[in-house]
Amino acid sequence: MSAPLLEVQALCAGYGATRVLHGIDFTLAEGSITALLGANGAGKTTTLRALCGMVRTAGTIRYAGARIDGRGTFPALTTEENLRLGAYTRRDRAEVERDFTRIYGYFPRLKERRRQQAGTLSGGEQQMLAVARALMLRPRLLLLDEPSFGLAPLIVAEIFSIMRTINRDEQVSMLVVEQNAAMALELADHAYLIETGRIVLAGKAADIKQDDAVRRSYLGY
Ligand SMILES: Nc1ncnc2c1ncn2[C@@H]1O[C@H](COP(=O)(O)OP(=O)(O)OP(=O)(O)O)[C@@H](O)[C@H]1O
Ligand SMILES: [Mg+2]
Repeated sequence: MSAPLLEVQALCAGYGATRVLHGIDFTLAEGSITALLGANGAGKTTTLRALCGMVRTAGTIRYAGARIDGRGTFPALTTEENLRLGAYTRRDRAEVERDFTRIYGYFPRLKERRRQQAGTLSGGEQQMLAVARALMLRPRLLLLDEPSFGLAPLIVAEIFSIMRTINRDEQVSMLVVEQNAAMALELADHAYLIETGRIVLAGKAADIKQDDAVRRSYLGY
């Protein structure tokens, strides 16, 4: 097996004197979709913040290549202007134009709304715009914090299906933090369960889905 794209070892993080992560280890294989699961307050968001350097950490994070930051979209700009900003640091202008076509192919709703102010897009469309904009940087890894948050089930299904297509066709790896464990385990190939800052379960998503404790506590059946 080749080296993982992301390798986290003994990661500790917290806020001021409060320790939240007590030395977690996980890896993400190139091309994989890996889920981080856990109850409210377990430390999922803190893990992503730690990966982006937004909180002070101890331990090691190894990542081969560029990092994707988690800035929100700019509400006063149009959909297309937001996407253009996503590609701001790129010099390959002809390629960027081709990427517009490609990304509008994944997100036809965004194409229809390309001249609309981002702030007036629906919650689901703004979530799509955030993913689309990150893709304009041609990332190898996307960090997604609750992509289903506050969205209707049909929109969630649409976004997850687009994410699966992008993962498959573009070889973009994804680390997905989700409350919606059922959806996440459908999407992911691997998963980790965090409880109060520690990894308590790791494995293939299909196996985690069968785990009795996970079913009782996170899947509700
Ligand atoms: N900025 C902060 N300052 C102090 N404590 C924080 C801060 N952000 C989070 N915490 C605490 O860190 C712990 C883990 O929070 P975190 O946001 O990582 O949880 P989570 O797993 O993402 O939960 P949720 O599912 O509710 O989003 C919680 O006890 C929370 O209160
Ligand atoms: Mg969170």
